[in-house]
Amino acid sequence: MDVDDLLSEAGLRALTAAGATDAADPLRAAERLRSQGIAPALAAAALTQVELRRRAAAKFGADAAVMLFTRAGLEQATRAVVASRRAERLRRAGVTSVADLGCGIGADTIAFARAGLRVHAVEADAATARIVEANAAALGLAGVTIEHADATEVEIATDAVFCDPARRTKGGRRVFDPRAYEPPWDFVTALPRNTPRTVLKLAPGIDHDLLPDNAEGEWVSVDGDLVEAAAWCGPLAEVPRRATVITATATHELTGTGREQAPVAAPRRYLHDPDGAVIRAHLVAEFAGAVGGTLADPTIAYTYTDEPARTPFARTYEVLEHLPVALKRLRAALRDLDAGPLTILKRGSALDVEELRRSLRLTGANAATITLTRIAGEPAVLLLRTAADPAAAGG
Ligand SMILES: C[S@@+](CC[C@H](N)C(=O)[O-])C[C@H]1O[C@@H](n2cnc3c(N)ncnc32)[C@H](O)[C@@H]1O
Repeated sequence: MDVDDLLSEAGLRALTAAGATDAADPLRAAERLRSQGIAPALAAAALTQVELRRRAAAKFGADAAVMLFTRAGLEQATRAVVASRRAERLRRAGVTSVADLGCGIGADTIAFARAGLRVHAVEADAATARIVEANAAALGLAGVTIEHADATEVEIATDAVFCDPARRTKGGRRVFDPRAYEPPWDFVTALPRNTPRTVLKLAPGIDHDLLPDNAEGEWVSVDGDLVEAAAWCGPLAEVPRRATVITATATHELTGTGREQAPVAAPRRYLHDPDGAVIRAHLVAEFAGAVGGTLADPTIAYTYTDEPARTPFARTYEVLEHLPVALKRLRAALRDLDAGPLTILKRGSALDVEELRRSLRLTGANAATITLTRIAGEPAVLLLRTAADPAAAGG
């Protein structure tokens, strides 16, 4: 089924009809569309779009209802909240035009255009290029030129370049080695040579050594999920490393060199588990400095303080007790606490959490939280409770 079929009058009618069906019963939905005289292939394509639109609402909000998607395009798309922050930062840096190389279904293109930048969007996949064109039209975007081409062959004449290379095989499997990115990694990392104001979107697990020289590395999380790394090259780099933590109500940024070591001391009463963006940006020392904390092990990001520091950069727990590490004694200690439903966290432990849970066979009434970690190089188990828990206040 061609994208243009969905954009035809019959296609738009099929999309409207599909939108009115019950998402929970796809077979009946398909029957209903066919009973309205919609051809089976068009009905199937429309129902797929409606399913993707429903899923896309988490990334695109209300825009999703008028956009078209491919499954892979949606999975790889930047969340609107992240794309719009990036676009605003480029605008503030004085950028007026940007090439979006490998634009996919257009999440970043949309954000750039809405920030008032002229966009030269390039996409190698024909169906995806047609979709980004349809999305730009459906959202009434101005100043967007879309080119169906190989990004390695196009002429770039914009102030800035953005490239979010595909990190999946054609079969949809994730690719972890940047050398398997498309467009190719050599092309991607050479972009700043021709256009110094280049931003690259990369996998959050990227090795810091692979970032272009002198680039700012930014790691971004949304509601606790680490979603991407970005390399801000040339004059766009403001600091060596940045962790950006976005929640429903605010955005918080922590910056630093990414090369500091946090002080190490015995564990204290409050344990802070830093956000993934802080950890991946190598800013645990900066985080510890901000809360006046120390680590209990130089290789573990858990940061301890005497006071329950309020911080958007970590989840905070109160350390109630150090429990025995050996299984039998741990089970006995947890049974003494009448522990039942158990939350098991871990940092720096190779233990299989589910296997441990089964081996503990807890049947008590009290919910409990433990973490499996290391203290000064030795395995440790800590009994925790969240500092936000009112019961923790007096304890
Ligand atoms: C990760 S996706 C981009 C997602 C986009 N930033 C968004 O948020 O919607 C990468 C895109 O690059 C495209 N691509 C891969 N190699 C390309 C090339 N050599 N030239 C142009 N596009 C390419 C893929 O087809 C894919 O749509």
